[in-house]
Amino acid sequence: MSNGSISRRAFTSTLLSAPLLLKAQPSSREARVKIDTERVIGEIDPKIYGNFTEHLGRCIEGGIFEENSPLSDANGFRKDVLKAVEDLHVSLLRWPGGNFSSNYNWRDGIGPRDQRPARLEMAWGTVEDNRFGTHEFLQYCETIRTEPYLCANFGTGSWDEAQQWVEYCNYPDGTATSKLRQKNGREQPWKVKYWGLGNEMDGPWQMGHRTAEDYGKFALEGAKLMRWTDPTIKLVAAGSSNYAADWIGWNRTVLEYLKHHAGYLSLHMYVGNPQNNFEEFLASSLELDQRTKIAEGIIRGAMSDVSNRQMYIAWDEWNVWYRARGSNERGRRILEEHYNLEDALVVATFLNTFVNNANIVKIANMAQLVNVIAPIFTSENGLYLQTIYYPLQLFATNSFGNALELFVDAPTYSTKHSPKTPYLDVSAAYDRGTLVLNAVNRSRTDNLPVTFELEDKQFSGEFEVAEVNGPDIKSENNFNSSLVKTTRKTVQASGSRLRYQLPPHSYTMLKGKLA
Ligand code: AHR
Repeated sequence: MSNGSISRRAFTSTLLSAPLLLKAQPSSREARVKIDTERVIGEIDPKIYGNFTEHLGRCIEGGIFEENSPLSDANGFRKDVLKAVEDLHVSLLRWPGGNFSSNYNWRDGIGPRDQRPARLEMAWGTVEDNRFGTHEFLQYCETIRTEPYLCANFGTGSWDEAQQWVEYCNYPDGTATSKLRQKNGREQPWKVKYWGLGNEMDGPWQMGHRTAEDYGKFALEGAKLMRWTDPTIKLVAAGSSNYAADWIGWNRTVLEYLKHHAGYLSLHMYVGNPQNNFEEFLASSLELDQRTKIAEGIIRGAMSDVSNRQMYIAWDEWNVWYRARGSNERGRRILEEHYNLEDALVVATFLNTFVNNANIVKIANMAQLVNVIAPIFTSENGLYLQTIYYPLQLFATNSFGNALELFVDAPTYSTKHSPKTPYLDVSAAYDRGTLVLNAVNRSRTDNLPVTFELEDKQFSGEFEVAEVNGPDIKSENNFNSSLVKTTRKTVQASGSRLRYQLPPHSYTMLKGKLA
């Protein structure tokens, strides 16, 4: 075990050169976190608490939408799911895919439901009945008061299709396409702001997969038409989702084509624990941080000759996903991961990483929302909240304002990600006098006492404490019991220091006013 003073920026630079796999030691020492409310990383964009719904397995049909169910409303929306989604405070909802979007023609999903065509769906090997389409999705977003984010088909689709979809959704009146929307029951445009220029176009598994050059050229022409239809929209370029391939080269090339039109670079990351190694798995977020910083450098390079435009990162698919994964994942009950406590802790460290890179990460979407690698799990009769629901809910309800750059002095252990992986993973958000600390104890066995030291303010009374934990790192929830959930208490804090003991394998949020 070592105990080093780790500025967050310093330890990430050691990631690639790490020697491997020393056995993790239990932490017996304390951690210290120094907080200065004027040391700001960037403003936390609430859109980092986004989510994703794809026509895949039981995410939409049997998830958010189940016609003829006694649990659904007149629109076919599952009321119990609606409540769980509202309680999650989803800020941005991506749709219709994912891989599904690369062969989706939005015109199949409008007009009277009973007259919509059933189409062969090749991404996930099923038949799409199109009963849930543009109107249903955008109505769902209005119902849960979330911002919609549509991913256009840049696989088998055309420039014309993408342009027409923007026109259908956003053009007020007087064209054939806007009149068609009105005929279908929506008088006013929805004004959808966020549009994806395709999904994972670098992947050979993608329908319409292209080289970076071919995608860049194609997406540029689509982007121009989409923005000329509605100049207020924000476009998300398909960055590389394949870290093992030419990730850097793809992102560089694509940005050269799209830097004058796109506002975000889409990146995806899924992690897992196939070796059943808790300590390694809990360190996955160091790799997310590493990739984020590399992408930030690529963006800075690309934008160095562009004035008056910003480019940000959209981690628009991320999660733990490894058990329900493989070539047999085709059809209806697919990608149905059952999450445990260690997965929830990894989710908390990912959210910390987004907050700690708040200057550049402005969108993030947990993939996905219901049943499919998701925080909410349904049956025909009800639902339960998976372990990963709780950290996302706590962040999305509380962590706003400025992300603060912290000095962190914590005991460390060695993983393949870093020889100095800190047992403490932490972020801080400061919003109009309220401080929110999000702290994960990566130790499976030991308490981690932490002293939070304020540099420029004082603690002033009650602090709310919310802890996500459970009896064991493998504890799961199900329809009958919630072993992993949020428990709450309060502590008193005054002066410039707050000492708090983080229990083993826990995520804790501390929130209170400063004076
Ligand atoms: O979220 C599941 C799938 O993962 C998405 O369809 C695809 O974009 C990614 O590979």
